[in-house]
Amino acid sequence: MGGAIRAFVIDRVDGRTSSGMRELSQAELPDEPVLVQVAYSTLNFKDGLALTGAAPIALRMPMVGGIDLAGTVIESRAPEWRPGDKVIVNGWGLSQQHWGGYAQQQRVRPEWLVRLPGAFSLKQAMAIGTAGYTAMLCVLALEGMGVRPGGEEVLVTGAAGGVGSVAVAILARLGHTVVAATGRPDTSDYLRGLGASEVIERSALAAHGPPVQEERWAGVVDAVGGHILANALAQTVYGGAVAACGLAGSRDLPGSVLPFVLRGVSLLGIDSVMAPRAAREEAWRRLSVDLDPARLDEMTVVEPMSKLPELAQKILAGEIRGRTVIDVNE
Ligand SMILES: NC(=O)c1ccc[n+]([C@@H]2O[C@H](COP(=O)([O-])OP(=O)(O)OC[C@H]3O[C@@H](n4cnc5c(N)ncnc54)[C@H](OP(=O)(O)O)[C@@H]3O)[C@@H](O)[C@H]2O)c1
Repeated sequence: MGGAIRAFVIDRVDGRTSSGMRELSQAELPDEPVLVQVAYSTLNFKDGLALTGAAPIALRMPMVGGIDLAGTVIESRAPEWRPGDKVIVNGWGLSQQHWGGYAQQQRVRPEWLVRLPGAFSLKQAMAIGTAGYTAMLCVLALEGMGVRPGGEEVLVTGAAGGVGSVAVAILARLGHTVVAATGRPDTSDYLRGLGASEVIERSALAAHGPPVQEERWAGVVDAVGGHILANALAQTVYGGAVAACGLAGSRDLPGSVLPFVLRGVSLLGIDSVMAPRAAREEAWRRLSVDLDPARLDEMTVVEPMSKLPELAQKILAGEIRGRTVIDVNE
């Protein structure tokens, strides 16, 4: 237990980001109260940004990457957590200010931990990961605005990615008619398998369009931003809502206020990193009810930490389908 800990570490050498496998000792881990034996982490878009240095995600160096982890508590100075507890951490600045999940052991703060829901294994929890838990936060936000099954269609953008795949599966299981927008037409069968009723080309939403357009969507989960988000807002029905969580296409919002002032459309900002514990616990509770584990398994692959450099490039290029679990012990 006290031996070398294999980790994937981001560093800056001569002003350039360089990341790779390294061995750490337990003494090098941060002085936080709960020591977790990590089983799995995940690959998210933000991990791609952090590992390549494409955006300044890691704020101090060296930094153990991985914004997610799932594992078993092996030591705890916090009364609410005991050795043997199965736990999840999503966000909270892992891989930014705090060392993250790409390590066989990690020390974390007790208030960051969520208990593993009985419905999921540690691997399935990381198949969900930040992307899937964020998809659930988006669905909860839409529900909060009255978006219910049985009404008009709902749209998911960036549908073949991590957030998108989980959002499609949850919304379809809840009984919504889900339209999946993707730039990869070859994922059409995959998206229909997850429950999409229709698959549309990303290009149909990608050009600059009129500020209000024919009303179609009761609700939208948008992981992409830019013109796609602006067009989604312009096509949302009177009183509908758009949950915006991502910037895989663009950080811009090149739109108009007309959907807000003419149609009462709501734009809902979604953040998973600093979301309060009660919101996380509710999201994980709902995931265990509303996400079919069989659909989750269909969208997931497991990879070793040594493949992270290649995977980081691929996720930024939009070439990763669904979710990738990282086995930190392989
Ligand atoms: N707010 C939060 O707390 C939070 C949490 C998690 C994720 N996010 C953000 O959500 C986004 C998705 O994350 P993810 O982990 O699901 O990433 P991902 O697996 O790479 O999915 C992103 C998807 O967006 C689409 N896409 C990629 N590049 C695009 C482009 N240039 N133009 C239009 N569409 C493009 C692709 O879908 P298709 O191939 O189907 O078109 C891609 O699969 C990221 O921006 C991430 O930072 C935010």
